[in-house]
Amino acid sequence: MLIHLVCAARPNFMKVAPLYHALKKEPWAEPVIVHTGQHYDPNMSDAFFQDLGMPRPDIYLGVGSGSHAEQTAKVMVAYEKIIYELRPDLVIVVGDVNSTVAATLAASKVSYPSDGSAGQVRRPLVAHLEAGLRSFDRRMPEEVNRLVTDALADMLWTPSRDAVENLLREGVPEAKIQFVGNIMIDSLEMLRGKIEAQSTHLSLGLGSGDYGVVTLHRPSNVDDAAVLKNLCSALQAISEKLPLVFPVHPRTRKKLEETNLLPSMMNGHRLLLPEPMNYVRFMSLVFNCRLVITDSGGIQEETSYLGIPCLTVRENTERPITVTHGTNRLCALENLGEQADRAMQAQASKDRAIELWDGKTAERIVAVLRGVAEQSGRGA
Ligand code: UD1
Repeated sequence: MLIHLVCAARPNFMKVAPLYHALKKEPWAEPVIVHTGQHYDPNMSDAFFQDLGMPRPDIYLGVGSGSHAEQTAKVMVAYEKIIYELRPDLVIVVGDVNSTVAATLAASKVSYPSDGSAGQVRRPLVAHLEAGLRSFDRRMPEEVNRLVTDALADMLWTPSRDAVENLLREGVPEAKIQFVGNIMIDSLEMLRGKIEAQSTHLSLGLGSGDYGVVTLHRPSNVDDAAVLKNLCSALQAISEKLPLVFPVHPRTRKKLEETNLLPSMMNGHRLLLPEPMNYVRFMSLVFNCRLVITDSGGIQEETSYLGIPCLTVRENTERPITVTHGTNRLCALENLGEQADRAMQAQASKDRAIELWDGKTAERIVAVLRGVAEQSGRGA
């Protein structure tokens, strides 16, 4: 069974890695990594492949940056050619980035003669890993990507029960949905030894539990100059009480430069602005921190799993389980200082385990796919 694992951007790589490793062990599976090239800086891409023990991508589409339509269209055009050439049996897409929806659209519309009886046509099956998450906010490009991907995919692999419910509410047949758990936890557990052996905080001159970690890159937080300015002021004020480490996403760095906010942000040793870090180095920083301030999806989940207080600077989250069962709190920019004060007092706690966030999601997906391979007679 020829399986394409499509990945594109930083948050995709840790979702693909455990599944790639698990499929590699199966005699019936031929996993192939397709990197669309949406993220291309070495520290946004190559560093993750190294950490996660993945080989260089078998196929690299090199689409780079662009507007949403450009990026989506470039992936569709490039990937359609690859599908016709290689005819995969299954295309696995992950997360909610532009490449996720683009690869899904391309794979859903191709058709070529089946190798069986004359006149029959075939296309690859499409599976969406991390299906069913909804912020119910269509101003977010990722929400549009999630909706379209889930409407088209043949198999929907969900990380949590609320995601299953969202899909059922949208009329998706139950047979298409498999509740497999959270694949990000597989990566974290796979690399726990290496993460615990790193001490990123010490290399930055910080003690364990004596600092906060910040990541911000969402258009809603960084694209508007006035919002970004307020955010920077809030972070500076918090850093007077608790040193902050803010590895700056390329998108955010560009905006900080355009708005001339970078010099004042760098003026002071309590607010550190390193380049984005590789997975192990970054997770080591999170493992040892007092609190996280973010707008990332994945970090809401990782902090919940680890029991570390997390303030998410957004109006909503597509991952509500991190609020109901984890340590995540949604936070308006105006309240960031006050909520940070409160979070600094909170003890790290891991009171409730989240169902199927157990490091065994890749195993469950392999079991599902073994069944598919047997049914289709492809290589099983
Ligand atoms: C993308 C995803 C978002 C994800 C985020 C994680 C979409 C719609 N958004 O947002 O869901 O949370 O990745 O990082 O797919 N850039 C570089 N080097 C790189 C990558 C990007 O300089 O390696 C620059 C680009 O030139 C662009 C900006 O960063 O100006 C944004 O990149 P893009 O991939 O368009 O979206 P992200 O904001 O990274």
